[in-house]
Amino acid sequence: MDVEERVSRLEVELEKLRSRVRGVEDLKVASEVFDKATLLTLYELANRGYIDVMQGVIKTGKESNVFFARDPDGNPLAVKIHRVATSDFRAMTRYIEGDPRFPKMRRTRRGIVYTWVRKEFKNLERAHLAGVRVPRPVAFRNNVLVMEFIGEDDRAAPMLRQVELANAEEFFNELLSNLRRLYCVANLVHADLSEYNILVRDAKPVIIDLSSGVLRTHPLAQEFFARDVANLVRYFRRYFSVEYNEVYSYITSCGGRHGVPEDSQR
Ligand SMILES: Nc1ncnc2c1ncn2[C@@H]1O[C@H](COP(=O)(O)OP(=O)(O)OP(=O)(O)O)[C@@H](O)[C@H]1O
Ligand SMILES: [Mg+2]
Repeated sequence: MDVEERVSRLEVELEKLRSRVRGVEDLKVASEVFDKATLLTLYELANRGYIDVMQGVIKTGKESNVFFARDPDGNPLAVKIHRVATSDFRAMTRYIEGDPRFPKMRRTRRGIVYTWVRKEFKNLERAHLAGVRVPRPVAFRNNVLVMEFIGEDDRAAPMLRQVELANAEEFFNELLSNLRRLYCVANLVHADLSEYNILVRDAKPVIIDLSSGVLRTHPLAQEFFARDVANLVRYFRRYFSVEYNEVYSYITSCGGRHGVPEDSQR
């Protein structure tokens, strides 16, 4: 059964979802975010007990929207929904092809976006397991990812670029040790690292947006890694002098750290 068939069979349930996912109808977001397939997906996540209510928009982006939601116990969640219609799915393939975790990706727009979301979930799992400060992954289905909400009460933590760091060196050191763990233990390269994808919570970094992340064995991993390091160095030069080579060798000096095996299903 394809998605469209399932949608028409569950038309009745979708109506229930509309009242359950409270507030969705009056959110000022493009209607394509909540197309039928996405509503069905949210319905399934709600049915399986992951999401109770969707309460507001955290960020509306070009390709995805991040919502504030709550689980049935009232705990805050972040729900990231990729818009299938406006995704740059061609660009995504560069970050998927060559990854042994996704050997049988469907090469349709929808198939690529779903793989993209699955990849972010798996990357978050690996990173979380390795002890990197990332949002704890909760669940995913199709184009929807559910994760820990990073913030205080219902206010999302700011991006690094919005913050004037009081102790930039301490923050930078904490960030580098997290990046080393990501590289050496999780065996991952972030591949979209910038001041936009690092949040600041309790004066410490939380690394987000791991959808681009690739295993270190990915054919383009070194190219992506070099770009990540360059971005980091460029940004922190506003605070103090930083050398590309030093940062590069710090993150990649893995010593005796044991990694999550590359052939792990995660
Ligand atoms: N777990 C979270 N908790 C709180 N806020 C979050 C969380 N995840 C994302 N955000 C907010 O939403 C914004 C967008 O999230 P993210 O960077 O993951 O998506 P994106 O940039 O649209 O992704 P992509 O570019 O891959 O489509 C972030 O800058 C951050 O402000
Ligand atoms: Mg981002």
